[in-house]
Amino acid sequence: MITLGIETSCDETALCLLETKGEGVEIEYRILGNIVHSQIDLHQEFGGVFPALAKREHIKNLPILFEKIIKDSGISEKDISQIAVTVGPGLVPALWTGIDFAREISMRNKIPIIPVNHMEGHIISTFFTETTVGTNFNKIKNIPSPFLALLISGGHTELVEVEKIRKYKILGRTKDDAVGEAFDKVARMLGLPYPGGPEISLLAEKAREKTKQGKNILSENNNKFSFPRPMIHSKDLNFSFSGLKTSILYTLQKMETPSQEEIEEISKEFEDAVTEVLVQKTESALNESEYGSLVVGGGVIANKHIQNACKLLAEEFSIPLFLPGKGLTGDNALMIAFTGALHKENTSPITKDFPLFKAEGNLSFE
Ligand code: KG4
Ligand code: ZN
Repeated sequence: MITLGIETSCDETALCLLETKGEGVEIEYRILGNIVHSQIDLHQEFGGVFPALAKREHIKNLPILFEKIIKDSGISEKDISQIAVTVGPGLVPALWTGIDFAREISMRNKIPIIPVNHMEGHIISTFFTETTVGTNFNKIKNIPSPFLALLISGGHTELVEVEKIRKYKILGRTKDDAVGEAFDKVARMLGLPYPGGPEISLLAEKAREKTKQGKNILSENNNKFSFPRPMIHSKDLNFSFSGLKTSILYTLQKMETPSQEEIEEISKEFEDAVTEVLVQKTESALNESEYGSLVVGGGVIANKHIQNACKLLAEEFSIPLFLPGKGLTGDNALMIAFTGALHKENTSPITKDFPLFKAEGNLSFE
């Protein structure tokens, strides 16, 4: 069975052709084609994603990328058995471009559409053992369940209990900004380009290196910058990052133009604050229930400092840690295709009033 995956929830136009056989945890897969076309360069001048521009670019690129993926994979459009498309959460105009494109191919070939929740896709992104195009079938990772999933992306920050695929319970979520959003906003205040996460983590890494080598003048003054860890001691498993962002804004307002070294130090302090909050909340969730493993998905887990902290946390609880396969931390259509393939019993036609954020029978993260 060949599934076409379509992802257009934000600023990546992504398509995937995925062949699967078997079902459930026994399922095997091979990737026939996988394309992620990023629009980052176009959005950079706006300092963030501009929805109307994302929509225009998706509409322009989808047919071109579709033609390319079909040609490169050597299959015919007629070989596609079903379409998995992201229906939310995400930017509504951008989502509709993917859904409309799915409808078009569905009607042309009389094949079903499976609505997929983007955040579930981020959980599934950790299942892959192989992430490149190839001829061999691969098994998925053996992830002991029930497991705890920490989802950290540009739009969401969530702790989810996963009893099994399709059985999800949200334990906590952000009350305001998502982690990735906080990275992006703080980066903007520091005069760094969008997306801010990779920029801040590079600068933070520089500050850490300098400290290790004893070359960090600012650190010697001890805690020149110290930012809050919002909600770290709250009894629930919810997050908040807007206070942290505001505290950095006030710090910057009180300073003259920050030096390169100060920008590095602020980046490090910010990354430390975010990491501590994520670890503390995840640790509380792990203490509350017995989990077989810890899974972390979403764009922000590309951050090495947060990855290391998650590794230590999983070790502390003697459970394995599962991260997205290579190249799958950010948005992609492979995770969407695979989520759809796992849900094949739940196909439903997408009509004009299709509930965007609640893929039927799907977990509603929004
Ligand atoms: O999951 P994703 O690709 O898109 C959404 O579903 O939102 O996540 C994008 C987010 C952006 O906010 C970006 O700044 C952040 O992931 N990000 C990072 C890093 N790489 C990407 N944040 C921190 N450190 C990184 N290395
Ligand atoms: Zn995402």
